[in-house]
Amino acid sequence: MAMAGDPLSPRLRTTLFGLEFSNPVIAASGTFGYGVEMAPIVPLHKLGGFVVKGLSREPIRGNPPPRLWETRGGMINSVGLQNVGVRAFVRDKLPLLRGCGTRVIANVFGYEVQDYVEVIRVLEDAGGVDAYELNVSCPNTKHGGMFFSSDPRLLAEVTREAVRAAKRPVIVKLSPNVARINEVARAAEESGAAAVSLVNTFLGLAIDARTRRPRLGAGYGGVSGPAIKPLALRLVREAALAVKIPVIGLGGILTGEDAAEFLIAGASAVEVGTATMADPQAPVRIAAELDDFLREQGVERVPALVGTLEWPS
Ligand code: FUM
Repeated sequence: MAMAGDPLSPRLRTTLFGLEFSNPVIAASGTFGYGVEMAPIVPLHKLGGFVVKGLSREPIRGNPPPRLWETRGGMINSVGLQNVGVRAFVRDKLPLLRGCGTRVIANVFGYEVQDYVEVIRVLEDAGGVDAYELNVSCPNTKHGGMFFSSDPRLLAEVTREAVRAAKRPVIVKLSPNVARINEVARAAEESGAAAVSLVNTFLGLAIDARTRRPRLGAGYGGVSGPAIKPLALRLVREAALAVKIPVIGLGGILTGEDAAEFLIAGASAVEVGTATMADPQAPVRIAAELDDFLREQGVERVPALVGTLEWPS
């Protein structure tokens, strides 16, 4: 009988930007709350890490409902970065995450460069966070978000200022809604990012043909889930070819073998989002399945799989 995979297997250990991760599977921002809500139902120490909901300088109420619609092969959302604000996070949630046994990454959002800097300053003062993920790619706001990663110069500015304010590594989360992902990824690297993560959601539209109205209260939304996986894999490969810093891949990962595909495309780790909405334990299961896959393939360590895509000649 085949042995069951283990999310804490030594095969899965990896080091990213100077930090050790017990496995390369991280729960993605916006699908894992502040981590605190998940603690009673998910063994957090079996995750590589988790990214908390996007945090802003002041609380954000989010977009009008409905905010989520299930599509074929995924979903579309327009949550609009609803969050309690960074100070309430530090006061009410962060203390409950101390000693949770995994890497805690704070997703940071702003409308202006100075907002990102201020959120990072508050988190720096508090401690207890291992790294930051700059959200320069949310498609559901009228300012900030995706607009920063549409222009390499703007992206460079926000990354530079965030890196200057941070003592911890800064990951830049990129939008897929751009023409040249290599230029955007390079701008992040040249401005001091420790890693890039991609892809955030694809800007989309779901329509109710009977009412002739958008399915979402905000109109447009971000599409995620298995339907976007081949699109995400292409962008991850192109980003990985463009930069030397680690790439964290995400977009429709449902199984350990999906995670392996992202590693083969050049990602050093992965994030799991939409699958977590259906099953909060999905990242733990996916890490165990990835361990199975590595054993089956005779791969001793995660880094040995990274970037091993054999391109047709
Ligand atoms: O609308 C949202 O809260 C989504 C955020 C994101 O895609 O980064």
